[in-house]
Amino acid sequence: MKAIIPVAGYGTRLKPHTERYQKTLLPIAGKPALDFILEPLFDTGITNITFIVGHLKEQVIEHMKKYDGKFSFVEQKERLGLGHAVLTGLENNDDPVLIQLGDTIFDIDYNEFCSSTNNVIGIIEVDDPSRFGVVELKDDKVANFYEKHPNPPSNLAISGLYYFTNERILKSAIEELVKRDIKTNNEYQITDALQIMVKQSVDFSVFPTPNYYDVGVPESFLYSNRKLLTTNHKDFPSSKIIEPVFVGNNCNLENSIIGPYVTIMNNCEIYNSKIEDSIILEDSNIADKQIIGKIAAKDGSEFC
Ligand code: UTP
Repeated sequence: MKAIIPVAGYGTRLKPHTERYQKTLLPIAGKPALDFILEPLFDTGITNITFIVGHLKEQVIEHMKKYDGKFSFVEQKERLGLGHAVLTGLENNDDPVLIQLGDTIFDIDYNEFCSSTNNVIGIIEVDDPSRFGVVELKDDKVANFYEKHPNPPSNLAISGLYYFTNERILKSAIEELVKRDIKTNNEYQITDALQIMVKQSVDFSVFPTPNYYDVGVPESFLYSNRKLLTTNHKDFPSSKIIEPVFVGNNCNLENSIIGPYVTIMNNCEIYNSKIEDSIILEDSNIADKQIIGKIAAKDGSEFC
């Protein structure tokens, strides 16, 4: 089965780091978020993947060289929203297709997710549904989709994983969205195309995805790091390490307190510092700093 992973976005909420890294390649718990996304897909035999690329596209193309599979890269020339990005990668055929966002990691059984005869939408319960695309259910089927509605009728948010039984039907719904110029927050949203499909009597089931890790904003990025982190480092005798801590290759930590929940990527030097609940990007050189709850780079003064 083919999967589409849109990774063209600017990732403005993770600036300044997304000026240097495509968001999907920012490291979490010791490796790029994209690797966490791909491994369970590959484990279930999904290796035919179309990446929608744009911002820092060459990084994604380069990164995928380490994997075997049928990968294609389609450029989204303008960042017009997720619906538009997905449309860029869709073809006119009657095969199923899986859509997986490039900034959300799922710990689920993809075979089970894709085993339905209906279209399937991954959902999570949230406290603040007005920030999300939301589903309204009737008899276990989706009755309506809402995108960032001020008073959504449920707290069941769309988590970022979608299974469609027929690529052509999705494609024509997004084409209609673009033709009718239906935008939310000035973007063509996939949720609004799904609402067009529902109105055409297309059936959608939902699939709870509680084990999901969003890496789109700093708070959830660090939450995901805390959840996915496993200890892996050599000894640093002059520093106190409070597990779990991951330290990459070619790093030197001296007279520092590191942890808990810290990821330090390759080629970092850290002296006389306290680092807790944070991710330090590669090639950083940090001295005499306290860094708590940050994604930090360079000398620690570049962070979000
Ligand atoms: P987001 O809506 O989080 O957008 O995209 P973004 O650009 O990555 O981040 P912000 O909002 O500027 O902080 C969710 C997923 O859809 C992709 C993104 O790359 C991300 O994987 N996307 C979004 C596109 O590929 N193209 C778009 O036009 C919008």
